[in-house]
Amino acid sequence: MKRASRSGVAAAAEGRDSPRSDAMVSDTVKRPRGNEQPSDEVLMELAISAAAGVRATTAPNPWVGCVVSKDGQQFVGATSRPGGPHAEIVALGKAGSAARGSTLVTTLEPCAHRGRTGPCTDAIVDAGVGRVVVGIRDPDAAVDGAGVKALGDAGIPVTVGVLESRVAEQLRAYRKHRITGRPYVVLKLAATLDGRIAAPDGSSRWITGPAAREEVHRLRAESDAVLVGAGTVARDDPALTVRLHDELPSGPSDQPLRVVLTKHLARDARAQPAIAYSGPLDDLLDELGGMGILQLLVEGGARVAYSFHHAGLVDRYVIYIAPVLLGGSDGIPLLEGSGAPSMSQAWRGQWRSVTRVGDDLRVEMDALGAWEGLA
Ligand SMILES: NC(=O)c1ccc[n+]([C@@H]2O[C@H](COP(=O)([O-])OP(=O)(O)OC[C@H]3O[C@@H](n4cnc5c(N)ncnc54)[C@H](OP(=O)(O)O)[C@@H]3O)[C@@H](O)[C@H]2O)c1
Repeated sequence: MKRASRSGVAAAAEGRDSPRSDAMVSDTVKRPRGNEQPSDEVLMELAISAAAGVRATTAPNPWVGCVVSKDGQQFVGATSRPGGPHAEIVALGKAGSAARGSTLVTTLEPCAHRGRTGPCTDAIVDAGVGRVVVGIRDPDAAVDGAGVKALGDAGIPVTVGVLESRVAEQLRAYRKHRITGRPYVVLKLAATLDGRIAAPDGSSRWITGPAAREEVHRLRAESDAVLVGAGTVARDDPALTVRLHDELPSGPSDQPLRVVLTKHLARDARAQPAIAYSGPLDDLLDELGGMGILQLLVEGGARVAYSFHHAGLVDRYVIYIAPVLLGGSDGIPLLEGSGAPSMSQAWRGQWRSVTRVGDDLRVEMDALGAWEGLA
C-alpha cells in the first residue's frame, strides 16, 4: 500500500491512462456460452477485478490487471509493488509458452519505455502474443500512445477502449495525477442527517457505526496521504493510520503520509510523524503530487473541508450520513464559513452513488474536474 516518506517519493516513474471517464458505470458485458471463447469484455472484467485487488499497493504506479487468454485458459496478473513486475509481465509469466498466439487483455496501455522495469511491449512481442486488448490509453507522458504504437509497429493488432468508462473510473486518481501533477482529492466526512459533523461541544465520536468506520480505513489504505486540520488534532488527536482486520499493512512504510494543516504540531500528537503545513493549498497539492502522492484523503474538520471546497480542490466528496439528528443549528456544519449567498450561486456536483453501509449511508458526489475536460 502507500508509501511516501517525508523526504519524498521519487516522482512516479512508470505511468499510464486516458482522460475520458463517465462517472457512472455503463458498459455491459456479454458472458460466453458453452465452450465459446470469452469475449473481450469478459476478459476485461477479469482484468479489472485483478487490478482492484492491488489498488492499495502499487502507487506511485497504476493498479493494473491483465489476462492472457488462450484455448479457453486464462492467466491473470496484476501490478506488483513498486519496483516489481507490471501486470502484463506477471500474466505472461504465468502463461509461459501458452502466451504464443494468445489474446492479452490489459486495463491500461502497456508501457513502451524503461522505468524501474523493462518495456512491457517488448515482453509482449517476445512472447508471441497474437492480439492485445486495452481498456484505456495511458496519459503518462512517458507512454501516451507509445505502447499501442510499438505493438502496432510489431504487427500485433490492438483494440483500445473495451470497458473504457469502467477502467477510467478505476484509475481515476492515477489519471488525475498524470494529467495535472496533483493528487486526486477525496473529502470524507461523517455527518448526522441534519448535516452536522460534531455536536456543539466538539464531540464527534462516534456519529457513524463500525461498518462505516471500517470502510474509512479502507479509504485510507487506498490513499497515499491523509490530511486533517489543527482543530481536529486539538479535539480528537486522531492517529490517522490504516487499521484493517483482514488486510493489515505490512509495515510502517505502508501507512499513508500524514499531513496536518497547522503552524505547529505537538511532538506527542498521535498523528506524528506528520508533515505540519500552513501555506497555500495549491502549493501543497503540487508538492504532494511531486512526491508521487496519487490520492489525498482530506478528513476534516469543518474549516479545512471549507477551505478545500471553496478553493475548488475536491474531486470526490464521500459523506457518511448516520440516522442521527442533533436537532438544532448549533452543531458544527460540514463546511464552516460563509457559503453561497443565494441558491442561484450554490455549487452543484454530480451524484456518483448512494450505498447503505451498516446502519449508515455513504453518499458520493463528484466535482466535474477541468482535468477531465468536463468542467
Ligand atoms: N465527523 C467528521 O467527519 C469529523 C472529521 C474531522 C473533525 N470533526 C470534528 O470537527 C471539529 C474540528 O473542526 P474545526 O473546523 O474546528 O477544525 P479543523 O478544520 O480540523 O482545523 C482548522 C484549523 O486548521 C488550521 N489551518 C491551517 N491551514 C488551514 C486552511 N488552509 N484551512 C483551514 N484551516 C487551516 C487552522 O488552525 P491554526 O490557526 O491553529 O493553524 C484552523 O483553525 C472537531 O469537533 C472534530 O471532532 C468531525
